[in-house]
Formats: sequence, C-alpha cells, structure tokens
Amino acid sequence: MSAVTERTSLWGGRFAGGPAEALARLSVSVQFDWRLAPYDIAASRAHARVLATAGLLDPQELGRMLAALDDLEAACASGEFRPTVDDEDVHTALERGLLERLGALGGKLRAGRSRNDQVATDLRMYLRDHARGVAGRLVELADALVEQAERHVDTPAPGMTHVQHAQPVSFGHWLLAHVQPLLRDLDRLRDWDARAAISPLGSGALAGSSLPLDPAAVAHELGFTAPAPNSMDAVADRDFVAEFLFVTALVGVHLSRLGEEVVLWTSTEFGWVELDDAFATGSSIMPQKKNADIAELARGKSGRLVGGLVAVLTMLKGLPLTYDRDMQEDKEPAFDAVDTLQLLLPALAGMISTMTVRVDRLVAAAPVGFSLATEVADWLVRRGVPFRDAHEVTGRLVALCAARECELEDVSDDDLKTVSEHLDPSVREVLSVRSALAARTTPGSTGPGPVAEQLATVQNRLDSWREWAIETVVPR
Ligand code: ARG
Repeated sequence: MSAVTERTSLWGGRFAGGPAEALARLSVSVQFDWRLAPYDIAASRAHARVLATAGLLDPQELGRMLAALDDLEAACASGEFRPTVDDEDVHTALERGLLERLGALGGKLRAGRSRNDQVATDLRMYLRDHARGVAGRLVELADALVEQAERHVDTPAPGMTHVQHAQPVSFGHWLLAHVQPLLRDLDRLRDWDARAAISPLGSGALAGSSLPLDPAAVAHELGFTAPAPNSMDAVADRDFVAEFLFVTALVGVHLSRLGEEVVLWTSTEFGWVELDDAFATGSSIMPQKKNADIAELARGKSGRLVGGLVAVLTMLKGLPLTYDRDMQEDKEPAFDAVDTLQLLLPALAGMISTMTVRVDRLVAAAPVGFSLATEVADWLVRRGVPFRDAHEVTGRLVALCAARECELEDVSDDDLKTVSEHLDPSVREVLSVRSALAARTTPGSTGPGPVAEQLATVQNRLDSWREWAIETVVPR
C-alpha cells in the first residue's frame, strides 16, 4: 500500500494494531479543529524555513515544501482537500495532504516539532485573529448605541435603581452607559492580545529540540512578539484560552444586561422603544405579537459564554505538567465563543440602530414616582440645611403627595410651610425634569453638557479601535 491510500497516522510504530473504534471516535478532534488549518499551514511554512536554515532541508526541498503548502492551503480553502473520518486531528489531515503532494519529503516537516507546540500555536493564532473580528463587531454595536445616544442627549428618562424610578436622566446618557462596558471589553481584548502574542513553537513535545531551530525567527514570522521562555509551560499553558473566555463571558454578561433592558423597554408596560419589523419576531398563534427575540437571545446566549469559561477552567484545574489530552477540550468553548459573538453582535447592532425611541413616553415617565425628590433635598442643602434633615423634610413632602395623590409641584404654599419652615414656593424652581438635568454639570453626570463631552470622548475611543479590528495577525 502506498502512503496515500494507507490511513495516515502520526503515531503507530510501537503499536501492534490499529486503535479500537471506540477510542478513535472519542479521540478524534478533526471535526472541530479543522478550522485551525490555515494557521497550522502558516506555522508549517515558518517551520520549513527554519529547517532549511538549519540545513535539514536543502533549498530545492524547501522550494517544493513551500509550493506544496501553498497548494494544500488553496485546496483547503476551496474545499477540494477535506479531512476524512480517519484523520485524528487537523495536524494528521494536513500531514496526509502533504504526503499526497510530496511523498517521502512530506514526512520531513515533522522534525523538531510536536502537535503539542503546534496546537498551542495554532489556537493562539486563531484567537488573536478572531479577537480582532469580535472587536470589529463590538465597535459596530457601540456605534449603533452611540448614534441613538446622539439623538437622545436631551431626551429625559426615568433613571432607575432597583427597577424603581430614582432620578431623571438623559436617555442618551443611559445608552452610553451600555457603551462604556463595551469599551472596557475592547481594552480587555487588546490587553489579552499582548499576553497571547507568545509563540510556543520550538518547544516540541515539552523539552525543546536537539535540532538547531530558531524559535525567535518562527515567532516573528507568525506575528508573535517573542518565543515562549519555558518549553514546558509553553505546551501546558492555556491561560490565553481561559482569559479569552473570561473576556467573551463578560461581553456576554454585558449583552445580556442590554438585552434585558430592551425586553423591558419594548414591553407594553414601558412602551419606550419600538423595534423595527426586520429585527423583531412574531408568534405562530397570536397574530398581534411582536417579540424582542434578539434581545432575549442576547440574554440567553450569555449562558453558553459563561459556561465555556467554567468548562475550560475546570478542565485545567489540577492538570499535571505538561501537555495532557484533557487540553483538547479547550477548543470547542473557544470556537463557540467566537461563533456566538459573531452571530449575536451584528443582530444586536441592527436591532439598536433601527429601533424607534418613543420620546413622548419617556418625557411623560421621567418625573413619575417623585423622581425629583432629590432636587428638593439638594435645594435645602444649598440653603444650609444639613442633608440628614433635608432628606427627612423631603420624605415628609413625598408622603403628603402620596396621600393626596398629587405631584410635588402641586403642593400649596401653605402646605409647604406646614411640612417644614425651610420650604417656600421658590422650591418649585427645581421641580422640573429639565432643570434637574441642566443642574448636572459635573463630569460624567447626566446633564446635557457632560453627556455631549462623553459622546465626543466615546467616539474618539471607538475610532482608535477601528484599525486594530481589521489588523492582520497572520502573515501570508
Ligand atoms: N488534538 C490535540 C489537541 O487538540 C493535538 C495535540 C495532541 N497531542 C498529543 N500528544 N496527543 O490537543
């Protein structure tokens, strides 16, 4: 049998027979790790060059090797070369592809490297590449929120704590409060990327190589900042997966909080937001229904993002050095996190950018629930009343209004005096939502001035992300 028709395996010399069917089925990872193929091929190119520099491939062999890798890459991209059920993993499938193209020469590439340093390298490259894609989608969602925020700097809304009306805020400020976490997520991705940019190649199975390899050259060629400082750590370390999954889990949590608010805002009880038909769903039985399924899926999918992080941390806990096969379980959660965000973020961005904000409903809701009570207390403080007493006085005023079912500004001059000697009719100056918002001038607060400043800062920060998000990590 030729090497081409025989089942390609990367091991077997010391085994009397082939693997049991049950083992092969458990062990196989090619159905999910095939997506690492372009990165594995890029790493193979770098490794081939280093083998040639070391005198282990002659120039003519290097030329044939690189041509075969190019051809294999094109065949993988077109789908002409596909993994088969007999390929244990992406590395096995690609070695088969190389043997098909080069015969015995294809077997030279494995010198000085192991699947242990290869898979750690491939996954770092994959995640660094896709972190940029995820960042791009995060920027698009942030852009959608910022555009809506720009329209609603001056739209008042009833700001809440405990889902109870608390103090009036600008709805633009509220929307920007969902952008800030996304900016921190973007920062986290870039911080993560700097730590992930370490190349395990050259570590071999665990101890490095007796061959004169050049890990620094390989690292540089593959877009890493440096080779790993410890070959054992290099093949055992999956911090970069766990950290990536923490960032994506936290993104999931942020999206779930935004999703939950959209669910509330679009309910009949709130009625603050109307979704565009293209970004809402209907019911199979109730013809009138218009549901915010994107927002609900944002809430729901946070479960799998958090779950992926927990799965990988649990898998890593207590693993002895160095590589253990447990670590094959790192890939599906990582891929799932990328896939989930790439699906979810564009849908959320579309939903946010096309939603209609019911300004009339927000304006009407802003002062409801005595949300201007703090203005009264602050007004008293400006007149020298200790806040402790001001709070008490205002509480009595609220109780009076609640009993009479009237608003704060409806209390008569006489009744104001009865509630407290400190109160007089000029307190009504602060009893409007507009004045409450206008009075908030400190940086980061909800007044029109600070919100406009925040908008400008946020836009600048988002602009600084646009280039990073389209950066190419893996050179051709
Ligand atoms: N498929 C393996 C993984 O994803 C590749 C490394 C296998 N190494 C080994 N020594 N069996 O982790």
